[in-house]
Amino acid sequence: MVKSTGFVFRRPALAATVAEGLVGAGLQDYTSGLFLAAPRRTGKSTFLREDLIPACEARGWLAIYVDLWANKQKDPAELITAAIAGALVPHEKGIRKLAKSMGIEKLNFLRTLSWDFSKPQLPEGATLTQALELLQSVSSKMIVLVIDEAQHALTTDSGINAMFALKAARDELNQGRDTAAGGLKLVFTGSNRDKLAHLVLSRTQPFYGSSITPFPLLGKEFTRAYTLHLNAHLAQMNQFEAEDIDRAFELVGRRPEMLRSIIGDVALELGEASNLGELLRDSSEVIRAGVWNDFESSYNDLTLAQRAVLDVMAQRSRSNEPFSAFTEATVLAVRKRLEVMGSDTVPGTQTIQACIDALREKELVWKSSRGTYALEDKSMAEWLEHRASRSA
Ligand SMILES: Nc1ncnc2c1ncn2[C@@H]1O[C@H](COP(=O)(O)OP(=O)(O)OP(=O)(O)O)[C@@H](O)[C@H]1O
Ligand SMILES: [Mg+2]
Repeated sequence: MVKSTGFVFRRPALAATVAEGLVGAGLQDYTSGLFLAAPRRTGKSTFLREDLIPACEARGWLAIYVDLWANKQKDPAELITAAIAGALVPHEKGIRKLAKSMGIEKLNFLRTLSWDFSKPQLPEGATLTQALELLQSVSSKMIVLVIDEAQHALTTDSGINAMFALKAARDELNQGRDTAAGGLKLVFTGSNRDKLAHLVLSRTQPFYGSSITPFPLLGKEFTRAYTLHLNAHLAQMNQFEAEDIDRAFELVGRRPEMLRSIIGDVALELGEASNLGELLRDSSEVIRAGVWNDFESSYNDLTLAQRAVLDVMAQRSRSNEPFSAFTEATVLAVRKRLEVMGSDTVPGTQTIQACIDALREKELVWKSSRGTYALEDKSMAEWLEHRASRSA
């Protein structure tokens, strides 16, 4: 039997790079905040939990993790506050001592010391900056606040305010401090690059000027390790090849769960199979057909103009040229594409912009911080190419 549960591939090198970047010690500088984005189900939360947070703790930093999607009923601001309050709880004794030695007025949000440590709440009127400063002084540690699915904060006013409050806290805590010596570092992740980018793109947003870093998807080392893991449970004569596994993984957009389910399907047929590699290849074709079917139906849902824009975008990405909405070349290419489709619409830049907005809304396309557009799912580009070659 293939046992495929419980396998977690660790990424210590990536975690070390990120951690160094947080204190500005590596090639990358994330001292003012790291914004990591990747499509759904590609392993962002697992990386934070299994690799990044342990790496931070190993460096003597205090990591706080908040998932803004953990409870969709709760206001994101409340979740952030609760996580910070929760991190203060183990320091109750230290806080009481500090309050005594400094004088209650100094720690003015502890005014009455009637703070109930049994609840994950800050005393009324306390700001995030005050709470984080307090945490920093009682723990004497640098704080790394990790906010998973951060784009969700943008859905409520208080969530947006919490983001502004975090920015203020970051500036306050880091002021006049050597970057490596302490202060507050922020890590945000999101599965929708466009939405996450809202936090950094516009002047009116809290982290204006930062950029979005693409989260590196699991690579060949993952498929190699996974193959070893699977093969350990299989007969010597009937083993998987890492390359076949990697090919299947690529087909499902490098999503471990979907790979696991392919392996599960293959495992069911194992009794009759003489060649696992072949079985895997066959099953991959079936999976690909399924994935492509999904693309086909989302494509069919688009208007002709939207399809034309998507086609031109895919064409550009194949030839490694940037796609920008307002150039004459783009307008001409979209027009031509529509003509080929038999439409007599003559689109201008406005129509094209509206199409792009619709495609972004459907999460087929995203806009980078440099203002260029790209397809959200690389395998969709492959499908579009296949489609174009069929109709050529
Ligand atoms: N390094 C890894 N090794 C093994 N399995 C992994 C790894 N990373 C992710 N997975 C598996 O992939 C699935 C998705 O992982 P995870 O929840 O971390 O992704 P995510 O990008 O945070 O997803 P979401 O967009 O839903 O938040 C989970 O079933 C997880 O067990
Ligand atoms: Mg996640």
